[in-house]
Amino acid sequence: MDGCILVLDEGTTSTRAIVYAHDGRVLHTAQKELTQRYPQPGWVEHDANEIWGRTLDCARAVIEQVGGADRIAALGITNQRETVVAWDRQTGEPITRAIVWQDRRTAPFCAALREGGHEEAVQALTGLVIDPYFSGSKMRWILDNVPAARDLGDRLAFGTVESWLVWKLTGGLHVSDASNASRTQLLALDAPGWDEGLLDLFGVPRAALPQVVDTHGEIGRCDPALLGAAIPICGLAGDQQAATIGQHCLAVGDTKATFGTGAFVLTNMGAKLPRSSHRLLGTVLCQQGGQRTYALEGSIFVAGSLIKWLRDELGVIRTACESEQLARAVPDNGGVLFVPALAGLGAPHWKPDATGVVAGITQGTSRAHIVRAAMESLAHQCHDLQDAFAADGAAWKTLRIDGGMSANDWIAQDLADILALPVERPADTETTALGAAMLASVGVGLHASLEDAVCMGGERQTFNAAMDDGVRQARLALWTEGLRRHV
Ligand code: G3P
Repeated sequence: MDGCILVLDEGTTSTRAIVYAHDGRVLHTAQKELTQRYPQPGWVEHDANEIWGRTLDCARAVIEQVGGADRIAALGITNQRETVVAWDRQTGEPITRAIVWQDRRTAPFCAALREGGHEEAVQALTGLVIDPYFSGSKMRWILDNVPAARDLGDRLAFGTVESWLVWKLTGGLHVSDASNASRTQLLALDAPGWDEGLLDLFGVPRAALPQVVDTHGEIGRCDPALLGAAIPICGLAGDQQAATIGQHCLAVGDTKATFGTGAFVLTNMGAKLPRSSHRLLGTVLCQQGGQRTYALEGSIFVAGSLIKWLRDELGVIRTACESEQLARAVPDNGGVLFVPALAGLGAPHWKPDATGVVAGITQGTSRAHIVRAAMESLAHQCHDLQDAFAADGAAWKTLRIDGGMSANDWIAQDLADILALPVERPADTETTALGAAMLASVGVGLHASLEDAVCMGGERQTFNAAMDDGVRQARLALWTEGLRRHV
């Protein structure tokens, strides 16, 4: 064993395995796509067995490339959050498709909770607004609509994706780390375990839920028959929390934005319970020895998925890279406004029923204008969050960006211009996996602390604001007025 870290990075659209050297160098990677299922408008599902099977394939591939499981000191898992898997404890088989975080099917249930006057108390406890995004209402839907869920009784197990994978990897350990558990809406931010009142409100039986554990420290060991050794699982975290750590946002006020399927901005709030009066989320960033660090979060539901939609559904670009060329091909948006509410609108608007808008089209509008307006919507959504964070007393000084779309220089510069802030981008934008590697490395004792583990990370490039203020104000006005009129 020479101190390599294996990371399983379970995104919304793909599963990846990465082997890191002790100093943070990426040694090997393997990746497989996940099938996205849209059985009805607003529904998004995954096959939990596919997640497991493809994860195992990727893990085995990189373990072979690195020369065997004996070289792996620890495993870290990071995952798409809120997505709910339900399985039978006896057979280890899922009883229904996983309901993905983007799925809006529980909007009526959530509306009823809000109308029943529960939102204030739920937000005070969990840090989360009531929205179909979170896992609790998804679990409730399964209990109400999947007969097997009721019939199984105590054999029913619920978990988010890291919980499902730990169960499979260990042969039956049922845990969820505090960062993922804090996204279920069933955990009070400052309590070690599930909240009785929230379980009652959402109608979720405690017996079906995993034990809440630390994000780093030894959590369990893999079944040696699966990966070739009893690799200790030493890091577990939701992907946005892992990216925050991978971006080295370890001091209070440090802020990152990850542009993956959605875009998620997190500010480190330290040990202080985060409270938002401006529709942001309080969430657990990490936990060690039961001690929590918190973050304030703004969640944007559509980012990379917008580029995919422009390519696959609208057909205005052939490749994701073409979006950057088209945005640069015109001097401005030509008066076009694009509100990408393809999965409702998340923070700070929280409008699950909002639909997308393209407005301001004339004879002179080209596909380049539409693509440019779509790309501009990312900076505008981040600007809405910037205002909300500032109003909550957590103004950003710089923004560290990562995720697939951050490689697009046009987007990085547009963010700097609209936010009027320095925007920093690491050379390796895969900070989610790096954060999981840092957690696992600290968890297994290769590094003494997360601060010590920042040597696992490299250089950053800075984009500075350069836009004329008149142009910026006109952009902001078009967006604000568009939201007011159309959404
Ligand atoms: O909360 C949802 C988030 O965890 C999904 O992340 O990377 O798939 O956009 P991503």
